Amino acid sequence: MLRIAVIGAGHWGPNLISNFHANDRSRVAWVVDRDAARIEVVRRRFPDVRTSANIDDALQDPNVDALVIATPTRTHYELTKQALDAGKHVLVEKPLTDSVETSMALCKLAEVVERVLLVGHVFVYNDAARHVKQRIESGDLGRIYYISMMRTNLGPIRGDVDAAWDLAAHDISLASFWLDAWPESASAVGGSYINAGIADVVFSTLRYPGEVLVNLHTSWLNPRKARDITVVGDKQMLTFDDVNVSEPIRIYDKQVEHDSRRPALVDSLESFRMSVHDGGIAVPSVPASEPLRNECEHFLDCVLGGESPLSGGREGLAVVRVLDAISRSLEGRGREMAVEIG
Ligand SMILES: NC(=O)c1ccc[n+]([C@@H]2O[C@H](COP(=O)([O-])OP(=O)(O)OC[C@H]3O[C@@H](n4cnc5c(N)ncnc54)[C@H](O)[C@@H]3O)[C@@H](O)[C@H]2O)c1
Repeated sequence: MLRIAVIGAGHWGPNLISNFHANDRSRVAWVVDRDAARIEVVRRRFPDVRTSANIDDALQDPNVDALVIATPTRTHYELTKQALDAGKHVLVEKPLTDSVETSMALCKLAEVVERVLLVGHVFVYNDAARHVKQRIESGDLGRIYYISMMRTNLGPIRGDVDAAWDLAAHDISLASFWLDAWPESASAVGGSYINAGIADVVFSTLRYPGEVLVNLHTSWLNPRKARDITVVGDKQMLTFDDVNVSEPIRIYDKQVEHDSRRPALVDSLESFRMSVHDGGIAVPSVPASEPLRNECEHFLDCVLGGESPLSGGREGLAVVRVLDAISRSLEGRGREMAVEIG
């Protein structure tokens, strides 16, 4: 039985509270939030949980084994450091921190104090995303040419980090999970319209080994909630729509057939049609499970069962390194920046 304190009960924290509260292997001992109104909401919804405005109450409670941190990104470093220093295991929301230096420091600290550090990159715990990974690894799609990812909505608008740090963090972890690699470079342009200096929309392109391109459109300033992903391989293509709960994946048996016997004809429409294979669309059934629940179970497996984190400090740091390259490119108005994963 793991006793947990959840820090931050804003938009996302209550989902973590519910999951750990309902799990047989954990109990939520404390919920901490600086905002009295949020504490009041928690009290009404989870009357048996102790609440506080001060993290010290959770840190000093010897019965608390782990902290789950769901506060704004800018606070992640300080709060996670305090938790590890106090000997607690940590599940911290994405992104790990807002800089490479602080993320590196937390990785080292977690190793020194021998505590689990898991980053909430929830998409690697998504069954549909895991299905896509199997398709890629089995070779069904052939050589992967490129992936395009669109993550948009109207809000929530952040004041501490830009749309890339807030939203692309998901897509970077997901693309890297699928490709089993990290990007070599990043280029990005963005626009700040609501708050000066904080990009509301960021268009980034990541170059992975083997000339695989990954394009990210991330924005909280868009009328449509979209989580649209397209993976294009030389044998098959697929789409992954995380908003479509019942049928998130479509497999397109489509490809361009290179007909070297007729190279001179490819610029006519008719011959172009002949050079495209269209074998139809399949919709695989994917068992629907709750990704956040899988993530919470995995955290418990790591702490109680000694499993290695799938999205641990090292993976969280790699995502931050990519985000840092995106930020440098934004400053350089789109110049391609190297990503040093180390
Ligand atoms: N995994 C996901 O899909 C997902 C989705 C949404 C948000 N998130 C992440 O969760 C985190 C929180 O996001 P949110 O949308 O809930 O933000 P939010 O602003 O709605 O809530 C943050 C809460 O933290 C509290 N807080 C801030 N500083 C604190 C401190 N020092 N001590 C105690 N409480 C403090 C605030 O009062 C607020 O209630 C972010 O890191 C975000 O990236 C992840």
